[in-house]
Amino acid sequence: FYGSKIVGWGSALPDTVVTNADFEARLETNDAWITERTGIKERRFGGTTSSLAIEASQKALANAGLEPKDIDLLILSTTTPEQTIPATSATVQAELGLNCGAFDVNAACAGFVYAMVLANSMIATGVKRILVVGSDTLSRITDQEDRSTAVLFADGAGAVIMERTELQDNAFLGWDLGVDGSLVPILYCDHGGYMKMEGREVYKKAVLAMVASSKQALERAGIAASDVSLVVPHQANLRIIEAATNRLGIPIEKTAIVLDKTGNTSSGSIPLALVAAAEMGRLQNGDHVLFCGFGAGMTWAAAVIRW
Ligand code: ACO
Repeated sequence: FYGSKIVGWGSALPDTVVTNADFEARLETNDAWITERTGIKERRFGGTTSSLAIEASQKALANAGLEPKDIDLLILSTTTPEQTIPATSATVQAELGLNCGAFDVNAACAGFVYAMVLANSMIATGVKRILVVGSDTLSRITDQEDRSTAVLFADGAGAVIMERTELQDNAFLGWDLGVDGSLVPILYCDHGGYMKMEGREVYKKAVLAMVASSKQALERAGIAASDVSLVVPHQANLRIIEAATNRLGIPIEKTAIVLDKTGNTSSGSIPLALVAAAEMGRLQNGDHVLFCGFGAGMTWAAAVIRW
């Protein structure tokens, strides 16, 4: 068996910035409500799931100093595939010029952590390098006339490259995945429709799931919450992140936050926050990083890595 580590990263956001003031101009809402309830100030709309995935992947390859031929597998986490058939990862594979297998994973906003856990497991049995991408274009499946969801969801992508290491150098220390399908009715999107959400219910379950899953992953990793250098949470709502990290006993200063500029980009959200933290020099060799996410399903996921 082998271990794995992250050797490259990149992210992509569409050009169009949509501010709270833009919503204020056309919906019965205001900047104060949105900021207070969510922490979001602006978000990006545009691009396609594959175009954002491709841009993030190209940056990750450049960051790692690798070529497309060096990638042995592509896993794309998305909840907004471009077609029912084929998987969007096929388009990404072709555009990037990868010569390897590719498939999509859908675990809603927990999907990127699911994909990293999957990649780690495949690397454990010998795969050398896996490109793990999270890309979503939620603005396409959001009713822009519905103020309760329109202000929350947006578009974006991020990617990491995970590489095989000797087992003793494994950076992937522990993880937890979960789903409670009895909660489908609180957040779903039918084919061709828009997302429907009972926000308050999602909020309550999200905090519980983030805390329980993070504790589980930390315990399996043998890491105390006080030894976490950075939490990279799903970027849905600042209050959810504050409540969850507070219950974990981790100061909010140790949390990567980009949602004020990105809104909720589902699979894109965790890698967007990770890349921003890396670019700001917030990650040092040996740091313990806790990833945690939750999403429709309801799904949840947490993972602990050594940077
Ligand atoms: N502007 C102004 N008022 C609004 C807006 C808005 N944009 N949206 C809703 N309101 C109103 C509601 O109509 C309600 O009015 P009422 O009291 O007259 O009925 C009032 O504000 C309060 O609404 P609540 O839903 O109770 O407000 P809450 O404090 O719960 O905040 C929010 C709503 C932000 C949606 C919160 O519940 C939340 O963040 N929930 C989690 C959502 C989430 O994370 N979803 C993503 C999951 S990940 C995935 O898989 C996609």
